[in-house]
Amino acid sequence: MCGIFGVVSSEERVLGPVLIEAAQRLTYRGYDSVGCATLHADGHIDLRKDVGKVEEVAARLDFAAMKGKRGIVQLRWATFGHPSQVNAQPHFDSDGDLVGAHNGNVVNNVELRAQFMAEGMIVRSENDGESCVHAVERYVNQGHDMLDAIRRAFRDLEGDYAFIVGGVSENTLYAFKKGSGLVVGIGEGVTYVSSDLPSILPLTRRILRVRDGEIAVLTPETVTLYHVEDGQPVKREPETVTESMDWAQKGGYAHFMLKEIHEQPQVAGELLHLLDASSDVDAVVARMREAHHVYVVACGTSYHAGLLGAVYLARLAGRPVIPVIAPQFIPQYAPAVNSHDFGVFVSQSGETKDVLNALQAAQRRGMGTASLVNVIGSTLMNETDLYLPLACGYEISVPATKTFMNQAIAFLYLALRMGGHDTGIMAQVPALLEASLAQLGPQLAPLEPALVQRNDLYCLGYGATYPIALEGALKLKEVTYAHCEGMLSTEFKHGPLSAVDDDYPVIFVAGSGDTDLIVSGINEVAVRGGHTIAIGVEDARLRANARTLIRLPESNPLFVPLAATLPLQLLSYRLSVARGYDPDFPRNLSKTLTVD
Ligand code: M6R
Repeated sequence: MCGIFGVVSSEERVLGPVLIEAAQRLTYRGYDSVGCATLHADGHIDLRKDVGKVEEVAARLDFAAMKGKRGIVQLRWATFGHPSQVNAQPHFDSDGDLVGAHNGNVVNNVELRAQFMAEGMIVRSENDGESCVHAVERYVNQGHDMLDAIRRAFRDLEGDYAFIVGGVSENTLYAFKKGSGLVVGIGEGVTYVSSDLPSILPLTRRILRVRDGEIAVLTPETVTLYHVEDGQPVKREPETVTESMDWAQKGGYAHFMLKEIHEQPQVAGELLHLLDASSDVDAVVARMREAHHVYVVACGTSYHAGLLGAVYLARLAGRPVIPVIAPQFIPQYAPAVNSHDFGVFVSQSGETKDVLNALQAAQRRGMGTASLVNVIGSTLMNETDLYLPLACGYEISVPATKTFMNQAIAFLYLALRMGGHDTGIMAQVPALLEASLAQLGPQLAPLEPALVQRNDLYCLGYGATYPIALEGALKLKEVTYAHCEGMLSTEFKHGPLSAVDDDYPVIFVAGSGDTDLIVSGINEVAVRGGHTIAIGVEDARLRANARTLIRLPESNPLFVPLAATLPLQLLSYRLSVARGYDPDFPRNLSKTLTVD
């Protein structure tokens, strides 16, 4: 996820340090490149940008010395166009009179670039942030003022994004929001605009939150909001934020884990936009189609997503896939693979040593490889033949939540595409996740007293919900330190059932079509006094047989495993906090495991 920040000052001054510090406060979002533009009173625009860390690029290009009345800084997390100096932001328009930067994805970027070039504009990069600037340039060239030009540009730019743009002719910055975050700060003779609150709070506590479909016009003394649709001013008073920086960094949530759980509808939507626009989806599908054997290789949470991916690929594309925990790939499969085989390596960090070791073993045998990876520029991304990004932004909490969701979504998307099905149905997923999250709190609260002291429980699933049960059990043990085992529901009677006594908790994740099997399992536990908790869509038999039913919204059966992930993430979080632990940083664990 990129980050943008802008400042408008009443006097010409050195803006470099303000821009560098704002960039440093945005780094938690993840990035590969950084750039600064300052707009001088005499109409000159100074633009410096490159790939690398903020401190390193700022020192090399001497950001600290940059002067002007207005400034923009952008951190780029590559989606359209590889990380490079030319694709870094901000961008100029054709003749250097406008400069701007964006955060988010313009999904019709390829078509727009072709149009801009056909209209004679100078397009210098592949980056969609540049398209935002040219989209405004197009209407400024036709004689529209900046506000009007942005209103018209908005109709051309498809996707979710926020952008900041300024021109040489007036001491103003314009910012527009559609989908991505945007906040304005109001100081004394200076105003700010940013992707998020934490980058503004050290500068001023008077803020205005920009809503979707609004344009903010910033001068040194004023901020005016306009509706993009009709150009009418918006009436909204600034608010004074009194909360701490820590609160702001967590987006108002008590922990990063909770924030990241609630980000899932948004990052799911962003990923789907990217996959819709990506040619690499078809490239990965083609390689899987022609391969003799396809392996999905990963560890921990990423492995569980791969396991679900294997179910989706078999069911929707008729493609058998072998999911394997990365270190086991080396003795069990590597000796037998060859150049006709293909592996999809899945990782949030892209730096997990176990996964990289398996990748090397596969490549030594000439196997083709792709990665599904969140951290752009990671070793895994660089070393595989193809990669698809997960587009989750930075995941700070050690327990993986939003990256699991987007890994699962990416696999479902690949399976639909490979099977020749309509991927358009995936557009329902963000709203389903939103609706699920909205109704879970009151359902989970009554479970807490029964579960908070338990040090032993099971989480069972079948078919597409088996990986969800494994993932739910991993989440529960990771943040509550209780023993929780994930298992295929049908296996429970082959031994573990002996553990069940009065009120022993067993969670059943019910997928559509598997209710009969799940209900049998529930009854085997219920008759022995166990506390049976079912997660599934409303079903008379589940409700009649389970002691507790955590109800999910009705949805396409393919999406039930995605929605069923959420109560297990939230339950883990709540029990961790109730037990007095910090779910973001569980003891003994590390976010990125770069050791054997
Ligand atoms: O970065 P990776 O996805 O390769 O990490 C693999 C596991 O270490 C990771 O998924 C781990 O299991 C999670 N932190 C669990 O929440």
